Amino acid sequence: MRRIPANSLKPGMRVGHNIFNSRGETLISRGVVLNNGYIESLKRLGIPALYIIDDSLPDFYVSDVIEEKSRLDAIKLARTILNGNKPAKSRLDNVIINELRSTVSGIIDQLIENHNLMVNLVDIRSIDDYLFGHSVNVCVLSLITGISLGYSRKKLMMLGMGSLLHDMGKTLIPACILNKPGPLSGEELNVIKQHPQYGYAILDDSKSGIEALAAIIALQHHERYNGEGYPKGLSGNNIHEFSQIVGITDVFDAMTADRVYRKAHPPFEVYEMLAGSGNYFFDYKLVLAFLGNIAAYPAGSLVRLSSDEIAIVVETPKGFSLYPIVKILYDAGGNKLAEPLDIDLSQQKEKTIVKVLS
Ligand SMILES: [Fe+2]
Repeated sequence: MRRIPANSLKPGMRVGHNIFNSRGETLISRGVVLNNGYIESLKRLGIPALYIIDDSLPDFYVSDVIEEKSRLDAIKLARTILNGNKPAKSRLDNVIINELRSTVSGIIDQLIENHNLMVNLVDIRSIDDYLFGHSVNVCVLSLITGISLGYSRKKLMMLGMGSLLHDMGKTLIPACILNKPGPLSGEELNVIKQHPQYGYAILDDSKSGIEALAAIIALQHHERYNGEGYPKGLSGNNIHEFSQIVGITDVFDAMTADRVYRKAHPPFEVYEMLAGSGNYFFDYKLVLAFLGNIAAYPAGSLVRLSSDEIAIVVETPKGFSLYPIVKILYDAGGNKLAEPLDIDLSQQKEKTIVKVLS
């Protein structure tokens, strides 16, 4: 399989994995041959990249950190909570909150079991509306970070619930502003910037039974360590650690996705932006705990090495985000190797990745 950015997809390519919408229905199945209609709808769905079956390349399996079914169930639940016709508060009844709690608990179990895996698949979004897949991604990424920080089960549950509901306040923002395909006016931006307080108001209801910190996460996830965030301009460790973790994973997931108003950034670019940010936006200790779980070059990426050889990324060893195991396909002269050659870039430093090829 090979990972291809959505804007490089061509008719005739064969899809390497199933793609779902937020109702859990299959939109495109593995093996389907793309035509212009499929490519257009994939772009409309905001899917930034896709795995393609390429018979000229060695095939391998890319494992997600949670099972596909758990991800789909969580997305469906996010859809129910964030998209109901009823007023936001009454959507969070006891039945839904219990369902949410058991979903988060199941995700925690799988993440603890798979803690040796790096995150490769944040780009495979099964969405027809950005917010639902994004909420689940932010939940999964935040929990992985919490596990790396050695959080107790109780802390993980609070972080998981709050991260899944962090954008609850967006349900009160008009869709025409939320999905506007262009730059927002100052006035529209001010409307969007109210979603943290709206989220707080919905979640800060002791009767709901939701973990109290969920409301704090909703309120603070756009605050920044340097004091330049909103709504309150809090700085440093006045921002709760959970809110900062959700801030980091929200930025990472949003920047690696195509949005109606801009194209996706490749994961390694966002990785390097965060790695170079020190204590500027977030407590750097939390940034590093997050980045230690991220494959900067997701499996299936085609890359050029410093030796001028062309290789495909197979997997990334835990803790070596920038140094995956690759298969060299072409030598420096552009000649295809008869047998692809495996190199673990984490075990030798002479060769590094210099460019991601599309
Ligand atoms: Fe937000």
